Amino acid sequence: MILCVCQRRATCNSGTSTGTLQTTEKWCKESMKLTHTLRRLGLGMVVPVNAPQSLSVRASPQLYPLLFGSRCVATQGISADCDLKCAFAEAIPSLQERLKNIKTSFGSKSLGEVTVNMALGGMRGVPGLLWETSLLDAEDGIRFRGHTITELQQKLPKATPSGEPLPEGLLWLLLTGNIPSKQQAVSLSAELQKRAETPPQVFKVLDALPAKTHPMTQLSCAIMAMQPDSKFALAYQNGLHKSDYWDPTFEDSLDCIARLPGIAAAIYRRTFRNGSIIEADPSLDWAGNLAHMMGYQDQGAKELMRLYMTIHSDHEGGNVSAHATHLVGSALSDPYLSLAAGLNGLAGPLHGLANQEVLKWLNRVESDIGSDVSKEELSRYVSATLNSGRVVPGYGHAVLRKTDPRFTCQREFGLKHLPDYPKFKLVSKLFEVVPGVLAETGKVSNPWPNVDAHSGVLLQFYGITEENFYTVLFGVSRAMGVLSQLVLSRAMGLPIERPKSMTTRWLENKFGQAGE
Ligand SMILES: CC(C)(COP(=O)(O)OP(=O)(O)OC[C@H]1O[C@@H](n2cnc3c(N)ncnc32)[C@H](O)[C@@H]1OP(=O)(O)O)[C@@H](O)C(=O)NCCC(=O)NCCS
Repeated sequence: MILCVCQRRATCNSGTSTGTLQTTEKWCKESMKLTHTLRRLGLGMVVPVNAPQSLSVRASPQLYPLLFGSRCVATQGISADCDLKCAFAEAIPSLQERLKNIKTSFGSKSLGEVTVNMALGGMRGVPGLLWETSLLDAEDGIRFRGHTITELQQKLPKATPSGEPLPEGLLWLLLTGNIPSKQQAVSLSAELQKRAETPPQVFKVLDALPAKTHPMTQLSCAIMAMQPDSKFALAYQNGLHKSDYWDPTFEDSLDCIARLPGIAAAIYRRTFRNGSIIEADPSLDWAGNLAHMMGYQDQGAKELMRLYMTIHSDHEGGNVSAHATHLVGSALSDPYLSLAAGLNGLAGPLHGLANQEVLKWLNRVESDIGSDVSKEELSRYVSATLNSGRVVPGYGHAVLRKTDPRFTCQREFGLKHLPDYPKFKLVSKLFEVVPGVLAETGKVSNPWPNVDAHSGVLLQFYGITEENFYTVLFGVSRAMGVLSQLVLSRAMGLPIERPKSMTTRWLENKFGQAGE
């Protein structure tokens, strides 16, 4: 049960019932004191929402009269002016309750066997992480809070009627589990714009880096440069109560997500466009503004950016960027430290950097044999890549065993907007050829294309030709997923991560002596 209280309005929510009431600033302060007392007594919890204008109070229903007297009038539904933080706060108690029930009811159940090969093989298939925002199915691909990508394209609010989803809507969904209304998504856009101003030290740090610094290194440094402003780090130093950890984590996460388009665009402009900065357009949404600030005004480029930012955001918890963010965050490192760790992992060629590698490889294919080639010629080229001891970037996956739906939706975007683009046709032909060649090796678990096989070609079509920048776009999007989970992890009170490791000698002793 949670109550959201504002200066002028309070929302009382107990399961399905919600109420509103008019109140005054003085009353709000009094109720804040009261609820602090409640927490000390172990009867409730106080969390500021958009402090100092509002706060959220968790308390048992019998304390309503004490807190709000007859001013709290129950009505149905969630208050229309409930912002993302308020909606998230409302979702916390039931999440905590479910976690508690799971621990009580199934805490001692086994999730399966861990073999030596699983431990040696990068913990592949070992279930050991809680990740609420998305779940990956080997056959069907990713579901964000239960919704497939196709469903998201249908259900999430859009900037234009037949366009792509607004990533703000996805962020709302990831945090709360609910699809927002258009009004909620638009108000979140406005909220992000309010928070978007980048601290000046970020640009000083970027300027101090050599011009040749990879854009992903620049992004990581820029995020670290914001860390001194971390609200979580400050609140923790000031003695933050454990039940309130999620609140400054939420604040830092939203600040960081809000600033990332401006930071990414600044990195792009300083690396590839002589550093001339383009100011944000207040009439644009979060992703549309990213395209705009990079210098791309075409409506198609903005639509692509909305799709790109939506589909790259999250891919359950075990991938390198998600797991690294989660792991570092579990030590109560603040969101800036945690996200930077995750993005440093995203910068690896077997993970996020694969989108850059795909483009480099496609360019090599084009320059070596051209884009209008026969399937036989392409097949020989792919085999030559494999025989030279390299991977075919954009193909294969640690979990997926079918074509990645993120590839499919980008292919549909290509069919709609750029069907005659030569590079799109080359990607389509490779889709017909590569799986067969990889399958013939007999060792590749998944010969099908992943998200990275397609993304670069769409960006190229709109003129974003600098492939070294592509992983930055991936990172801006990925921040939404991993930071949403970080906020959820703090709200759920998840503990520090500490899996068991072993040495080769330990394994030999354990199983060798037993003769297994
Ligand atoms: C994604 C990836 C790292 C998954 O690794 P994985 O879970 O170990 O994959 P597999 O179980 O299929 O690997 C088995 C073998 O097939 C090879 N393999 C997998 N995908 C391959 C590819 N696209 N090209 C060539 N070989 C590949 C692996 O390198 C491994 O070879 P080895 O036994 O000689 O070491 C791997 O498929 C890959 O390197 N793909 C290319 C890079 C890429 O697109 N990354 C983005 C992922 S979203």
